[in-house]
Amino acid sequence: MAINLKYTTPGLDEKDAVRVVELLQDRLYAANDLHLTLKHVHWNVVGPHFIAVHEMLDPQVEEVRGFADDLAERIATLGGSPVGTPAAIVENRSWDEYSIGRATTQEHLGALDVVYQGVITSYREAIKELGELDPVTEDMFIGQTDKLELFHWFIRAHLEDKSGALATDGASSEEQAAKAAG
Ligand SMILES: [Fe+2]
Repeated sequence: MAINLKYTTPGLDEKDAVRVVELLQDRLYAANDLHLTLKHVHWNVVGPHFIAVHEMLDPQVEEVRGFADDLAERIATLGGSPVGTPAAIVENRSWDEYSIGRATTQEHLGALDVVYQGVITSYREAIKELGELDPVTEDMFIGQTDKLELFHWFIRAHLEDKSGALATDGASSEEQAAKAAG
């Protein structure tokens, strides 16, 4: 989608602002996708650890919804138009739909390990680029990545054995990770 900025924040080059808005929009799709996916998991986990995992996920949903709000408002601040509609997420995302329905807590946690790996890797790539373009947006991304990495640890702590090895080690898809963890 072509980004057309009529104005941007003072001191930021307009060409740089366009790229910053692109990076913000990509993370807005990711944050909106992630908080919906986390709620989907919250509703679909079953098994003996149901309540622990069910309740662990709601604060993550709330935090990631807050990220989406901050990203969208940063786009508007830079003179852009944030896109938050469901069809746009599906059309523009570079990842597949979360593929698991009713399943055990361990299977979902295995799949979420893969989800968080993808989201965090993309944040870190964007941070590298933002260091040159806009340190203010970079700071926002760093703050969000800090929280996402904490949540990723919460997920992975359920997948670790006493030696620290992850049940999902080497799995590249949600299905593989769910199977390995389940
Ligand atoms: Fe609920």
